[in-house]
Parts: sequence; structure tokens; C-alpha cells
Amino acid sequence: MPDMEAIRKIADARGIPVLEDAAEAIGSEYHGRKAGSLGRTGVFSFHGSKTLTTGEGGMLVTDDQELFNRVCFLRDHGRNQGDIMFLNAEVGFKYKMSSMQAALGLAQLERIDELVAMKRANFAKYRERLSDIPELTMNSEAAGVKNTYWMISAIFPREDRYRKETLVRRLAEGGIDSRPFFSPLSTLPAYREHPQAREAAARNKVSYSLSPYGINLPSGLNLTDAMIDQVCSTIKSILRNA
Ligand SMILES: Cc1ncc(COP(=O)(O)O)c(C=O)c1O
Repeated sequence: MPDMEAIRKIADARGIPVLEDAAEAIGSEYHGRKAGSLGRTGVFSFHGSKTLTTGEGGMLVTDDQELFNRVCFLRDHGRNQGDIMFLNAEVGFKYKMSSMQAALGLAQLERIDELVAMKRANFAKYRERLSDIPELTMNSEAAGVKNTYWMISAIFPREDRYRKETLVRRLAEGGIDSRPFFSPLSTLPAYREHPQAREAAARNKVSYSLSPYGINLPSGLNLTDAMIDQVCSTIKSILRNA
């Protein structure tokens, strides 16, 4: 969860509405309030990797009736509510979830507390097994925040031998699938020649310093203790034999 109080202060002072990207955060809490309920609207992703998944798709939540009506209108080809003659009033979108996907999602929503508890339990197991490696930085949980650990992450010491490309390859050699931290947008081939990208490293020091040395560890809900043991011992051997 971000520091919502700080975001709110800036947004309120400038009259900017807060749209909360809670894509990965279902079940997370900020001082007792659920992720997705902190802005004018919140959005969740139900992509295949997420804690609650419908394969692809997502959900927008809001308690702003006017905005809700507008979203319903736009996502249904720009048709007015109750229109059964298919007389599109504006050019809109087709962002409707199928009933089968919705059923899949609803079944998981009924057990979301259990799914979140499993994520938190998996994180605790990793943290406990890796607690004797102080040079590894894992996910944090600020005071007043409940983190649901969608992905369990590890940042290695900032040395060339621990670059994420090497770590992903070394884990794969041990039969372990992992994912690299995303790269700053301004470093991607699609953007890096853009004039703004040239000063990006100086402006975005944190992402530039974390991204090269961060990976996401296996975080699926079907992880067994033996799998977590295997990942942790492989990480330890990488650090020992680097
Ligand atoms: C923070 C964040 N925002 C947006 C998205 C995109 O979600 P979707 O793939 O459902 O469009 C993701 C997906 O992982 C995400 O992590």
C-alpha cells in the first residue's frame, strides 16, 4: 500500500481526483481500510497471476453514483441504461465480463480471506527460512498496513553477479521459475530513445537502483513447504557460490 495520506494531501490541495490502482492488492489494508476503497475509484486486476483471477479481466469499484453510471454506459458500447434497441448514444467500449468468468471470480471472492491468509502464510515461511541472510531485502509491511504479498520479492546486494538476468537463470538451472522486477519504462527499447528518457535515471533513482537486482519468487497458492525449502536453499547456494 502506498502512503495514501501523503497522496491525498497533494491531490486535495490541487483538486486532483485519486484513481487507485489496486491491481494486485485485493485484501490489503491501509489503516483498516481495504485497498480499492481509498480513491474516487479503485481498480483490480483479475489476470491469471492474481490472488483472485478470472483468467483476464478486472473490476472497477466506486461509491460515486455519477461516475458509476458513466462507467456502465461506456463499457456497454455507449448505450443508455435500458436501451434494448441498440441505439448507441456515443462511441464506447466493450468491457463486459462473461458470466462464466464472473462465476469463477465470485467463487474465489467467497473465499478471499482464505486465499489472502495463504499468501501471508507463504510469505512468512519464506521470510523465516531466509531470515539468516541479512543482505536480502524482502517485501515490507509498514505500520498500519496489511500486505497481502501477491508476489514474494527479494532484492539482492547491488553487485553485478546478482543482476536479475543471472538470478533468473541460476534459479531456472535449479528447476525454479521466477520473474525479474520490471524495468523502468525509460529503459525499455520502446522508450529509451525518447528525449525524456535521457534524464530519467537522475529523476527516478529508486527504481533504477532496485530494478536490476530484484526478482519475484514463486508465489502461487499451490506452493508446498518442500517447494519453499527448495527455493530458499537454492537462493542460499547462489549467495554462497556467487
Ligand atoms: C499495478 C498494476 N497495475 C495494472 C496492472 C494491469 O492489470 P491487467 O493486466 O488486468 O490490465 C497490473 C498487472 O499486473 C499491475 O500489477
